[in-house]
Amino acid sequence: MKNYIASNKQRYLDELFDFLKIPSVSADSKHKNDMLSAAEYIKGKLLDAGLDHAEICPTDGHPIVYAEKIIDPALPTILTYGHYDVQPADPVELWNTPPFEPTIKVTPIHPDGAIFARGSCDDKGQIYMHVKAIEAMNLHEGLPCNVKIMFEGEEEVGSENLGTFVKNNKEKLKADIILISDTSIIANDIPSVETGLRGLAYMEVEVTAANRDLHSGVYGGAVANPINVLAQMIASMHDENGKITVEGFYDKVIELSAAEREALESAPFELEAYKKDLEINEVTGEKGYSTRERASIRPTLDVNGIWGGYTGEGSKTVLPSKAFAKISMRLVPDQDWEEISDLFTKHFKKIAPATVKVQVKKHHGGQPYVTPTDSIGYKAAYLALEEGFGKTPVPTRGGGSIPIVALFEKELGLKSILFGFGLDSDALHSPNEHYGVFNFMKGIETIPLFYKYYSQLVNEQKS
Ligand code: BES
Ligand code: MN
Ligand code: MN
Repeated sequence: MKNYIASNKQRYLDELFDFLKIPSVSADSKHKNDMLSAAEYIKGKLLDAGLDHAEICPTDGHPIVYAEKIIDPALPTILTYGHYDVQPADPVELWNTPPFEPTIKVTPIHPDGAIFARGSCDDKGQIYMHVKAIEAMNLHEGLPCNVKIMFEGEEEVGSENLGTFVKNNKEKLKADIILISDTSIIANDIPSVETGLRGLAYMEVEVTAANRDLHSGVYGGAVANPINVLAQMIASMHDENGKITVEGFYDKVIELSAAEREALESAPFELEAYKKDLEINEVTGEKGYSTRERASIRPTLDVNGIWGGYTGEGSKTVLPSKAFAKISMRLVPDQDWEEISDLFTKHFKKIAPATVKVQVKKHHGGQPYVTPTDSIGYKAAYLALEEGFGKTPVPTRGGGSIPIVALFEKELGLKSILFGFGLDSDALHSPNEHYGVFNFMKGIETIPLFYKYYSQLVNEQKS
């Protein structure tokens, strides 16, 4: 099978390129038809791969693609989840090649070439590995267990309709484990399994001073400037030790034991290379924690966007009436995103000076998640990566969020295995997103090994 996969590399890439050319941007309503085209494309490829049923399930938002092949109901079932939607490409002018015209280029980290395109790594390239791995299994030894596929089109906008779909389709989605390739490995020679994801609480605030924009000469100095006020409020939400000042924010945070922290620190990490890659002189963050801990096992609060006043060409002397910001918090076990959203709202209202009125709006969110490392699913992932890469894999904790994963556990009672093949440096959500050709091919090779080991381990446990 390995030779077969290697000899089909060009075809796999050509097909992936066709998929990447479809601008499936979920956030932007003008791409609604592209979303449908992307769903149709991947549905067709799932049927070509030998799945015996595939359908497009409409939702109130973008459709979900579902497919399955049940070879024997007595065998275990792997449910693969991923997303075919992508982040907007902007700022488009910072891309060296157009975001929806996939181009292969060699980089220092990807000597075998990387595919530059929006969604190449997150997550179209990674879901396509599953389609091709299933195709290869079907053409060779056959599937060792049953497979179900669920690819959604709203992950990048908070998976708001997937929850309803899952709740309404529990029987259809019945499985033994969920397999997800939408995370990273440490490096191409250091395979790793992410054992956790952070949760997310996403807020938007509006600060209003006077009832209208004012002449900043006539009123400036006497009436509050909402942008100045908002900037001060935001600045006050971290103290001098990098701790978040929202009351109650840390109450439910589970501190890792010294042994757990040590285990995480044993995974390779080079601070100098990290700084060099980002062209920064210094890192920052919560006192008492390492860079890796700050970006994985600790919660954060960040402004994602801030606006108000005059931002057009030239200058305009104005005392604006309103200022806005989008603020998100990454959460860790056992923080609850709804609770944190409420704490934030309360805090923000409390710290607002009498000179302004504030409004706080809650956007989407998701709970944090951890995968136990003593499960069969984790062991199967470990063995597959070990064989696939010829290297011992290490457990890591990821900093990103896949909000629906905690809901899968709650509604379906299923654990998810985070079996991603990207690199953190692949510029996800940024201009020039890319995905290593090595990573793409290694994924196609390694996924069948997960199927093999998972089926074996389940059988051993039964007998
Ligand atoms: N695939 C990412 C999440 C991710 C990236 C996990 C890297 C681990 C390592 C996912 O597509 C994503 O971007 N999630 C969003 C969630 C949000 C839009 C609700 C995130 O983390 O910001
Ligand atoms: Mn993703
Ligand atoms: Mn993403």
